[in-house]
Amino acid sequence: MAAELQRKKLLSLFEEEQENIIYMKGAELMYRYQTDFEFPFRQESNFLYLTGIDEPDYHLILDLRTETYYLFAPKRDEHYGVWHGRIKSKNDIQTLYEPDELHYDNELLTVLKNLNPNVIYCLNEEQAEFLEDLDRSFNVDTESLNDAITFCRSVKTEDELNLMREAARINNIAHRKVMEAIKPGMYEYELKAIFDYHQIQRGLLFPAYNGIHAAGINSAILHYTECSSRVNNGELYLIDAGYEYEGYASDVTRTYPANGRFTDEQAAVYQTVLNALNSVIKMVKPGIKMEDLHMSAAEIILEGLKRMGLVKGSIEELLENDIFALFFPHGLGHFIGLDTHDVGGYPKGVDRIDRPGIRFLRARRELQAGMVVTVEPGLYFIPALLKKAIDDDEKSKFLNADKLESYFEFGGVRIEDNIIVTEDGFENMTDVPKEIKEIEKIIRG
Ligand code: GLY
Ligand code: MN
Ligand code: MN
Repeated sequence: MAAELQRKKLLSLFEEEQENIIYMKGAELMYRYQTDFEFPFRQESNFLYLTGIDEPDYHLILDLRTETYYLFAPKRDEHYGVWHGRIKSKNDIQTLYEPDELHYDNELLTVLKNLNPNVIYCLNEEQAEFLEDLDRSFNVDTESLNDAITFCRSVKTEDELNLMREAARINNIAHRKVMEAIKPGMYEYELKAIFDYHQIQRGLLFPAYNGIHAAGINSAILHYTECSSRVNNGELYLIDAGYEYEGYASDVTRTYPANGRFTDEQAAVYQTVLNALNSVIKMVKPGIKMEDLHMSAAEIILEGLKRMGLVKGSIEELLENDIFALFFPHGLGHFIGLDTHDVGGYPKGVDRIDRPGIRFLRARRELQAGMVVTVEPGLYFIPALLKKAIDDDEKSKFLNADKLESYFEFGGVRIEDNIIVTEDGFENMTDVPKEIKEIEKIIRG
């Protein structure tokens, strides 16, 4: 069982902490404001990692001295049986989740008192307060467990990698289906419907994040979610969307012309982003730093902008003056796993770089085999950002303002793949067409 290995991995980090225990509370159902409208249940990722349990209201204890896994199940009443589902017997729960000791949750306090730990490690203040409300004498620590479980989750086990490969396989199909279906005149929501259909039809029920389905100028809005515009002839369409498989996310972006033919301007911008993506992916291997990958992508984007005649000056000057951040204002990528923006991007003691663009980089560390990251360079024409730069003497000397203004309706391009760091390099799990010729051929059928 994958969760058993993952518990062992966590316990191995606490070998010296024999008088202590770990406590964790699973997720509860959530409702829309003060109504009975339930959000789809999604287990809290750390609890899912340690238990594999995908239902609400469970708790766990790991005793560091004996390595015993205690599971506390909710005692469901007949109302649960009426409204929510069949009530599992203790035997059912034991067989499904295989704890060393199974209790109902009303025994939690008794078990905690019997264990009589020096310290209870838990994840956050909310869980600490829950424990302290049970008994004021408990000594609770909210830091060590977070650090330890983040350490575990940031390097995936082979079981986890296989789940991520399966997530990627299905997401690859859904992305390709949208590319095959697009035609000028379709609405963003129609394309979203095709994407969602191909995920759900294959058993992937949960989006890993709010998908972005963006036509034309909307493609330059980084977190665009309106999903209501028409994709017109001549416009680009940017889809950044993914579903999760057994909790593991996929996060893929493609950008392509609705009519199946890149204009010269679109092709130049697109090829620049593709060059950045391909070049950076080839650099991925153990020991490389995410911030170095980010700056390498920034340099390739600046070279492309220079070729297009949109910026001027040497690449060194353009880098020094943060001109790349006007066009590539987000981070190159992030860790991905049970969460789309997964834990582990910043090890303890490492801070964000306070510099435009790279400030938003969600991972800043040397990569290791078993880590999984996205690589997602982008090049956008965001009028709000560019107008301000054109009005700024320090920035405007690097910009060809007249030409740049003709790109204000262009939108943007992002291409995003999901990459496993391997012992000798990388494995790219994303297999959705991205070369210009290939995309054009698919869209034009
Ligand atoms: N769509 C979220 C991301 O790419 O990070
Ligand atoms: Mn994405
Ligand atoms: Mn991403």
